[in-house]
Amino acid sequence: MKAIVVDRNRPGRPLLWQDVADPSCGEDDVIIDVQATALNRADLLHREGNFPTTPGRSDILGGEAAGRISQRGSAVRAWSVGDSVVCLTLGGGYAERVRVPQRLLMPVPTGLSMAEAAALPEAYLTAYGNLFVNARLQAGETVLIHSGASGVGTAAIQLARLAGCRVIVTVGSAEKARLCEAMGADLAIRYHEEDFVARAMEFGGGEGVDVILDTVGAGYLQRNLELLALKGRLLLIGILGGTQTEINMRQIISKRLAVLGDTLSKYSVAELADMKDAFLRDFGEALDDGRLKPVVDRVFPIQEAEVAHQRMAENKNVGKIILTVREH
Ligand SMILES: NC(=O)c1ccc[n+]([C@@H]2O[C@H](COP(=O)([O-])OP(=O)(O)OC[C@H]3O[C@@H](n4cnc5c(N)ncnc54)[C@H](OP(=O)(O)O)[C@@H]3O)[C@@H](O)[C@H]2O)c1
Repeated sequence: MKAIVVDRNRPGRPLLWQDVADPSCGEDDVIIDVQATALNRADLLHREGNFPTTPGRSDILGGEAAGRISQRGSAVRAWSVGDSVVCLTLGGGYAERVRVPQRLLMPVPTGLSMAEAAALPEAYLTAYGNLFVNARLQAGETVLIHSGASGVGTAAIQLARLAGCRVIVTVGSAEKARLCEAMGADLAIRYHEEDFVARAMEFGGGEGVDVILDTVGAGYLQRNLELLALKGRLLLIGILGGTQTEINMRQIISKRLAVLGDTLSKYSVAELADMKDAFLRDFGEALDDGRLKPVVDRVFPIQEAEVAHQRMAENKNVGKIILTVREH
């Protein structure tokens, strides 16, 4: 089969569409003929060689895929060859075929194209797991979502709105602000021009926010702690703004805050599967009836993965960038 291979010996680590060995199917696995995969910020790190790999993960980029099952292992009963599925992968999505443990599979939601389906797993499961499992976000609470226009951010806006929460986002441009508000954000703060703590406090009449989904890390840590209300929860899921900083810990104690870190890359298959099942239980109906719909930024043929990566690295996307692998 063909797959994207990172040429780590050449400057810029170019992405090459070339022949590689086919994945082999274990008894609890299926092989998916990939129709679409999607970019995640982690792919840029993986390409640089800065992503922690765990045993059993493919060295090929691509944390999610949508397509049709072309082979199933001897222990697979719930799925058949020909089924349309979407899933997180253990790497390997940027390829014509990928091996996936059966427990990670989801049916393609009614009404979604394969490109839209491929935009679903990583963004929604990250947003769902952090907001509703880790932070126990409740109806009526206020959540601040940093990088509101990102893949994860757009999913988080939709989920939090559906759950009856007030949603504030931070974004880097007026256009991203407009699009986030159109998606249902109550307030979009342009962080280059405005201080997000002051603006969010003003919006809430001096009350802090209950939950912050943070993609930035060090650069925002102290200000996030200042903005949280009593018993607030800070979810650290990204380090776009660095890893090291100094903070005043008084805020954490006196406001009884919880600071939680999370990364899907350190979940076991069983943990990923349990979270996917919980997500479908809570939001599957909303996916099928169109109240939840992945935001697709651009669709590129996989041979143009280089251009797609450039777009993400320049922070131009709103929602998910998709790579199409083949038509069936
Ligand atoms: N922990 C997990 O399991 C998990 C899973 C998936 C993603 N993530 C994290 O979630 C974040 C979003 O991922 P994604 O794939 O959805 O990314 P994405 O679509 O590429 O969006 C990232 C956005 O973050 C903003 N940004 C970039 N550098 C920044 C900086 N230095 N300071 C402030 N904002 C910055 C930019 O938007 P603006 O133009 O608005 O600034 C950029 O478009 C990343 O941090 C990623 O690592 C974590």
